[in-house]
Amino acid sequence: MENIDWSNLAFGYMKTDYNIRCKYSNGAWGELEVSDSEYLSVHMAATCLHYGQEAFEGLKAFKGKDGQIRIFRMDENAKRLQASCEGTMMAELPIEKFKEAVVKAVKLNERFVPPYESGASLYIRPFLFGTGAQVGVNPSTEYMFILFVTPVGPYFKGGFQTTPFVIMREFDRSAPLGMGKYKVGGNYAASLVAGAKAHDLGYSNVFYLDAVEKKYIDECGAANFFGIKNNTYVTPKSSSILPSITNKSLMVLAEDMGMKVERRPVPVEELATFEEAGACGTAAVISPIERIDDYDKKISYVFSHDGKPGAVSEKLYHKLRGIQYGDEPDVYGWVTIVE
Ligand SMILES: Cc1ncc(COP(=O)(O)O)c(C=O)c1O
Repeated sequence: MENIDWSNLAFGYMKTDYNIRCKYSNGAWGELEVSDSEYLSVHMAATCLHYGQEAFEGLKAFKGKDGQIRIFRMDENAKRLQASCEGTMMAELPIEKFKEAVVKAVKLNERFVPPYESGASLYIRPFLFGTGAQVGVNPSTEYMFILFVTPVGPYFKGGFQTTPFVIMREFDRSAPLGMGKYKVGGNYAASLVAGAKAHDLGYSNVFYLDAVEKKYIDECGAANFFGIKNNTYVTPKSSSILPSITNKSLMVLAEDMGMKVERRPVPVEELATFEEAGACGTAAVISPIERIDDYDKKISYVFSHDGKPGAVSEKLYHKLRGIQYGDEPDVYGWVTIVE
């Protein structure tokens, strides 16, 4: 086996041994198939290529100190993929089939699950798309589900660090009655120009406000937002953000740590009142926010002066990672151990 430098992996693609595929035609899903090819043959008029009938997911598997591999909350990703399929009129993959595919891919690529000490993990990327030929704007009658895995490095190489975000009113991520609540490719294509501008300006990502009034906080790049104040975890309730599984988990942990949890519209000015702020998602668990600059209004909301996260963010981060790696007991039943 090739020598993988586990501690220096990026968040990028690395070829692994096998991927799992499943086809939908004549109104039914077929059996899961194992492939060792990285390529697929798709009809040039497939709806995924023209009309964006595509959805994806992202989750992780972790190797513990005990050598066991744990998959985090895959039932939630299965349900969210079904929601994304409903939103794009694609055939929904049954939850059990999704979970079977995840476990199968992890087992078949077990040698790519990074060791505990590296702080790295195995990223799992399921996706589903329309393969049938259409020229008119209509849903396909044929679909393909594929799931591949790839090892990814620890998000914070030099330790848990804060980064700056930027509010830019010239870009919207998604509309309140639009597709933002689904994990569909088009949302990410729509975020590339804004993301590139934010990076060029030296920010880690864009901090989006609601598209109608530009009054409430939506999310930060590809992560949900939370703010901490007065022993309360505050996170936006919005129809144009992706329901983050990490956020959902952090809300449970915060409550169990004796904090109040508020999920409600959060006005942008409220940023000035938070003691800590963070972006949360599968990639980083928590990416603590150094500051948020309002590019248009020339205001800065500062949460950290020394590059270090706040105490509550740190506690939540370690608790969730502890559950994922098996250092903490899985009292919520969030983890599936790969037998
Ligand atoms: C737009 C967006 N928001 C939030 C998240 C975080 O969601 P999760 O915690 O389920 O990874 C992601 C990543 O999946 C995302 O792409």
